[in-house]
Amino acid sequence: QKILSLGVLSAAMIAGTASADVRDIRIGVDVPYEPMEYRTPDGELTGFDIDLGNALCAEIGIQCEWVVQGWDGIIPGLQARKYDAIMSSMTINEQRREQVLFSDPYITPPSAWFAPADSEIVTPDAESLDGKSIGVQRGTLQDNYVTDMYGDVADVNRYATADDMVLDMDAGRLDIAFLDFPIGKSTLIDSEAGDYKTVGEKISEPVEYFGEGFGIAFRQRDGELAEAFNEALSTLKANGTYDEIEAKYFSE
Ligand code: ARG
Repeated sequence: QKILSLGVLSAAMIAGTASADVRDIRIGVDVPYEPMEYRTPDGELTGFDIDLGNALCAEIGIQCEWVVQGWDGIIPGLQARKYDAIMSSMTINEQRREQVLFSDPYITPPSAWFAPADSEIVTPDAESLDGKSIGVQRGTLQDNYVTDMYGDVADVNRYATADDMVLDMDAGRLDIAFLDFPIGKSTLIDSEAGDYKTVGEKISEPVEYFGEGFGIAFRQRDGELAEAFNEALSTLKANGTYDEIEAKYFSE
C-alpha cells in the first residue's frame, strides 16, 4: 500500500489503518449539474461525480465529505482551504492549470447547443445567432466560447447555475443554450417541462476553449494527493467499478 505523507491525511491513514478517525478529504462541488451532481428528492447528493468521487475515496482508503460551493467561487474556495479538491465537471484547460493541479481526465464529454424543438436555428453561427438570446452558465468554458464567438451579435445570458438557465429556457426567455452535452441531454432533452433538441454538431475543439476532459482539481502543492486519485482511477477503470457508475448515469 502506498504511503501518503500529506497534510490532509491523518497519522492513522499513513499507518494504513484508515478508520472513522481519518480526517475527511473535503471535495467542493457546484450543484445542480444533472447528471453529474444533483440532489435526490430527499436532498441527498448524487450523480456521476459524486459516485465516482466516493468510489475513488473508498479505493484510496479515505473518507470524503462534499462541500457545496457556487461555480463562481469554486477555485477560490480550494485556495482558501474550504475543501481539498474540486470534483465538479471541471474541464482541464491551460488557464485553470495556472491555478490548480488536475488529475488525469476522468470523462471527456463534448459541448452542445440545445434549443426548443421548433427552433429554426439549424447551424449555430454568427448569422443565425444574430439577435438571439443565448444561455450559458457563468464562468464556464461555454461562457468563454459563446462570449468570444458571438458576444458581439447575440445577447449572452449568464446564469449562476445550470438550473437557473433551464428555468428561463422553459419559460421561453432563451432561444438557445450552450452546455456540456450530458447536462443539456438530462435537463432539457430528457425533461418533461419542455420539448428540446440539439442543434448542430457536438463541439470539443479547439482545445483552448474545450480543454482535455473533466478533471479533479487540487492545490498545486498536493501532487501526492492527485497521484493517489490517479492511481485509484486506473484501478476503478480496470476493475469494472468505473463502468458500473457510468452505466448508472449514462444509460441510453
Ligand atoms: N465543464 C464546464 C467547465 O469546466 C462547466 C462545468 C460546470 N460544473 C458545474 N458543476 N456546474 O467550464
